[in-house]
Amino acid sequence: MNFAITKANLPEDGGRLKALMDIIVPEEVPFGAEVWEHQDVECYWVFVEDQQVGMIVFQKNAGVGAKYEQLVLPHVPEQLYLLFGGLLKEWRFRGIGSLAFHWLTTKAKRMDDIERIVSNIRVSNEASEELHRRQEFQKGIVIEGYYQNPEEATQVMVLELSRV
Ligand SMILES: CC(C)(COP(=O)(O)OP(=O)(O)OC[C@H]1O[C@@H](n2cnc3c(N)ncnc32)[C@H](O)[C@@H]1OP(=O)(O)O)[C@@H](O)C(=O)NCCC(=O)NCCS
Repeated sequence: MNFAITKANLPEDGGRLKALMDIIVPEEVPFGAEVWEHQDVECYWVFVEDQQVGMIVFQKNAGVGAKYEQLVLPHVPEQLYLLFGGLLKEWRFRGIGSLAFHWLTTKAKRMDDIERIVSNIRVSNEASEELHRRQEFQKGIVIEGYYQNPEEATQVMVLELSRV
């Protein structure tokens, strides 16, 4: 399988990234252009067989907001916050998510200014929980009422890079 991850150009690619995110998670209210344009946000395309099949979006020195739609995230030094990671439906269950997560954790470990990765998922998202578990993330706090449509709590996931 020809797997590659390449950096997106922001803000030019913002529209295409948002369009792909709308397909990957049509039920979510996606975060807005303000996020793509934030100076600490980095977005990456996931390619398989030369097709854009998914994306990874993270923000350095940031933490989980009180709500999914929150645009200005808490400033948390030395922390990499995974804003979004996902694949088109037809590319799931083939190990691509695992490859992408491994790429992310390897990349973060090489960043001298990052101590931990923090992420958060719908408490019902078993696929994502499994993905995090395989990369040795630990469960953090649960924030009730974090998502809308449907309303659901989020499970915060934490990987301390110094411990791995
Ligand atoms: C989460 C996501 C990225 C997983 O990617 P993926 O490529 O399908 O995952 P993998 O194929 O690498 O699977 C990893 C493991 O999780 C398990 N898994 C995958 N989907 C699962 C599901 N729906 N339920 C339970 N386990 C699941 C797999 O079985 C695999 O374990 P195995 O090898 O022992 O069988 C993908 O489901 C996705 O894009 N979902 C929509 C967006 C999303 O929810 N993103 C997470 C929030 S940021």
